[in-house]
Amino acid sequence: MIILTLLVQAALLMSAAAQCPFTGDATKKRRGHAHHETKYEQSVSTPTTDYAAIKRDIAAFLTDSHPWWPADHGNYGPLMVTLAWHCSGSHRISDGRGGCDGAGIRRLPEFSWEDNTNLDKAVCLLERVKQKHADISWGDLIILAGNTAIESMGGPKIGFCAGRESEPNKSETEKLGPTKEQDALSPCRLNGNCTIPLGQTKIGLIYVDPEGHLGNPDPSLSAIDVRDSFVRMGFTPIETVALIGGGHTFGKTHGACSTGPGPNPVESPKAPWPGTCGPGPLKGRGNYTYTSGLEGPWTREPTEWSNEYFCNLLSYDWVKTKSPGGKIQWMPTNAEDAPEIRMLTTDLSLLRDKEFRGIVEMFAAEPEKLDQEFAYAWYKLTTTEMGPRSRCINADAPPSQPFQHPLPKPPSNPADADTVIKEIQKILFSKDSDMEGDAMHGTDELYFGAQFVDLAFQCASTYRATDYKGGCNGARIRFWPEKDWPGNEGMDHVLKALEPVKHAFGENVTWSDLIVLAGCASLLEASDGRLDLDTRVGRGDAMNGFQSLEFPYRYYYSSVEIAVLDTIQVLGLSERDAVALSARPRSAVRQKWKGLVGGYSNSTKLSNKYFKLLLSETWVKVPSAKDVYRSKHNRHIHMHAADLVLIKTAKLKKIVIEFAHDEEMFLMHFASGWNYLMLANFPSEVDFEPTP
Ligand code: HEM
Repeated sequence: MIILTLLVQAALLMSAAAQCPFTGDATKKRRGHAHHETKYEQSVSTPTTDYAAIKRDIAAFLTDSHPWWPADHGNYGPLMVTLAWHCSGSHRISDGRGGCDGAGIRRLPEFSWEDNTNLDKAVCLLERVKQKHADISWGDLIILAGNTAIESMGGPKIGFCAGRESEPNKSETEKLGPTKEQDALSPCRLNGNCTIPLGQTKIGLIYVDPEGHLGNPDPSLSAIDVRDSFVRMGFTPIETVALIGGGHTFGKTHGACSTGPGPNPVESPKAPWPGTCGPGPLKGRGNYTYTSGLEGPWTREPTEWSNEYFCNLLSYDWVKTKSPGGKIQWMPTNAEDAPEIRMLTTDLSLLRDKEFRGIVEMFAAEPEKLDQEFAYAWYKLTTTEMGPRSRCINADAPPSQPFQHPLPKPPSNPADADTVIKEIQKILFSKDSDMEGDAMHGTDELYFGAQFVDLAFQCASTYRATDYKGGCNGARIRFWPEKDWPGNEGMDHVLKALEPVKHAFGENVTWSDLIVLAGCASLLEASDGRLDLDTRVGRGDAMNGFQSLEFPYRYYYSSVEIAVLDTIQVLGLSERDAVALSARPRSAVRQKWKGLVGGYSNSTKLSNKYFKLLLSETWVKVPSAKDVYRSKHNRHIHMHAADLVLIKTAKLKKIVIEFAHDEEMFLMHFASGWNYLMLANFPSEVDFEPTP
């Protein structure tokens, strides 16, 4: 009888090779570039999607084990937690790239990362739910599966924010590497030692090497990597420890033998990671799975939520050992009741770092604190790249959380924008200001308009279309760290010049609206009203800076050309609008504060002169200043290297030529780019601080 059962099992396994049985062309689709999309593949989530029904279907399949990929302990929950974590964990705060919006994990290069080994099986399991529910995007489905898995294994209740796009509008996964695009943008000299703006210390891993820094099994060194890579994702120490330990409460590592998982999706697109361990029909699955090469669970009950991971870390003495996969991991010497449990070097690092250890002790003593911190950190992990709360399309998403940076509400009776603009225009030209303004030819008046334009631009251009963070809403340019960024040198003077207007309207105008209106007022004057600008008000003022917005990653670029092209992409501007905005009025005084020389024009009028100059002059480098050029024939006209990129890059030069010939077209694109930036992250009601 036993022999018969084994034979039947073997036959079943043979008929279902470890290749997705639910859809024949799943792997083809996942390759990304040339895939054939099916109808459900293109679908997006909607506000009326029945997320509760989808959760019920996910919960049902979690414990429905399939022979082609048997569930460990009869539960796919841990696999789904890993899929959601790896899908989200590619997000980096340096430039907002990565994350599960668009489900980049289903496409190359992410799909082939060593750390994503066998996650094709997890995606495959979800295909059945996706086929039944056409109205959910892949990104949303993956996160909902992670949430459902955590809750169904007894973990804390997790909120859900729907609205991830089906296909990203930002084909940004290539920038995560390993690709030529990533190498040009953010090269990693030694894989394992990668630095910002990359999110992880090793390309191909979501975060850090589990065996230790560059494979060295020293938990103290590994703690540095763990801390560093979680900071690059935007996490605090308490969130870091809650996530690692909460996650490793579930599931196990897989490394049944030393011959590896087999070819990856680049080498074998149709059947990636078939597995090489184990005999004939059982090969590569169940107890014979090879994923990371490490082997064993962290807890005795890997499908039950608890704080056991933290208790285990503290209760036992750990010694180095080798997994059957030949990888270094740690086993307890004094755990008679649980000899099978294992820890990774990265897990033990949580004991070596003093701050991490204190948190481990807290979670071991207070499980309810772990529930609370893990629920918050998980929601942040899976949602932060979605931007402000208003981007959640489901009405029952949790109220705005601290990581979504809710702001105090603006005044309920805001001052009329046109009236504020008129007040600002009164101070655009002044004789007796105590502030340094731009000198004007043939008059003793000073001009402040270019400085106001610069202030509004600097305030709004922190926006990133990659994770919808930044922008002038909140006016964080008034606070550290933004106010100290090199490009914002002298902005405190410009803000000071606006103080009289602020006093005149008091609480009825917020600083963020005022800054934007100051830019608009100047531009309307400079264009003699020819720009069609959106001057709506309603932004809130932050009380402090935006710490999690990385120091401008632009300073890490290897060339000015890469900086310009990538900045346009991150801002989400069209190339035409971006080129048009480059001609915004420039203040010679501000240029000097920033350590640059002069401007390209001393005119107070907005025109296409900038483009004409770019094309007509010969530019020579100014030896005494970095990245500054001057006209060969007119020593007073200067351009920055970033300006010259516009005529050195063929596709941008075409636009420069068009604008030089057609001022109306230039003004139209200027207004469109300006309105886009100034309205980026314009708040809706749900983005303000929830009423207590
Ligand atoms: C599994 C490393 C953080 C959840 C694993 C595996 C490794 C690993 C090597 C084994 C993969 C395999 O062989 O199947 C790390 C490292 C981390 C980290 C180095 C950070 C320093 C996290 C976080 C979560 C998480 C933050 C979730 C919040 C899981 C789960 C599994 C797992 C649930 C089990 C998967 C299964 O049973 O199939 N991790 N991890 N890990 N990890 Fe992590």
